[in-house]
Amino acid sequence: MPKNQIITKSSRETKMFAKKILKKLLKLNSSKSLVICLYGDLGGGKTTFTQGLAKELGIKETVNSPTFLIMKKYKSSKNNKKYTLYHFDCYRISNQQEILDLGWEEIINSKNNIIVIEWPEKIEKILPKERLDLKFEFIDKNTRKISF
Ligand SMILES: Nc1ncnc2c1ncn2[C@@H]1O[C@H](COP(=O)(O)OP(=O)(O)OP(=O)(O)O)[C@@H](O)[C@H]1O
Ligand SMILES: [Mg+2]
Repeated sequence: MPKNQIITKSSRETKMFAKKILKKLLKLNSSKSLVICLYGDLGGGKTTFTQGLAKELGIKETVNSPTFLIMKKYKSSKNNKKYTLYHFDCYRISNQQEILDLGWEEIINSKNNIIVIEWPEKIEKILPKERLDLKFEFIDKNTRKISF
C-alpha cells in the first residue's frame, strides 16, 4: 500500500513534483540504474511527469508519448554527469519479450540510466525489485492524485 500521496492541480505541478523526486533519487547516488514505474489511468499524467523529469535533466527535445515506438531514449548531461533517460510505454505491447528484445537487461543494469515505464503492469515479471512505483489517478480535469 502506498504511504504517501500528493494532489497536483495542474500539469505544471505534476512536472514540479517530478523534478523534486528526481533530485532526491539522484542524491542517493546509486550504483545501479534508476527505475521509475508509472501506473494509473489513461490521461493520468504519466507522460507529463516524464516531461518534468526530462526538463530537470536538461533534455531539450520534446518528450511525448512513445506509444508507437515502445521506447525512446534521450541523452542528458547534468552536474558534469552523463545520464540517459529511457522512456518506455508498454501500453501496446502484447508480450514482455518485446521489451527484452530492446536490450532490457543491459539497460536496467547500467549506472546512470534513468528508466521510466508507463503501463509497467504489462512487464511485471521483468521489473527489478529496486524501483520507485508511482500511481496516477484522475480526480477531475486538472486534478490528479499521485501515490507512492
Ligand atoms: N494535475 C495534472 N497533472 C498532469 N496532467 C494534467 C493535470 N491536469 C491536467 N492535466 C492534463 O492531463 C493530460 C495528461 O496526459 P498524459 O499524456 O500525461 O497522461 P498519461 O498518463 O501519459 O496517459 P496515457 O496512459 O494515455 O499515456 C495532459 O493533457 C495534461 O495537460
Ligand atoms: Mg502517456
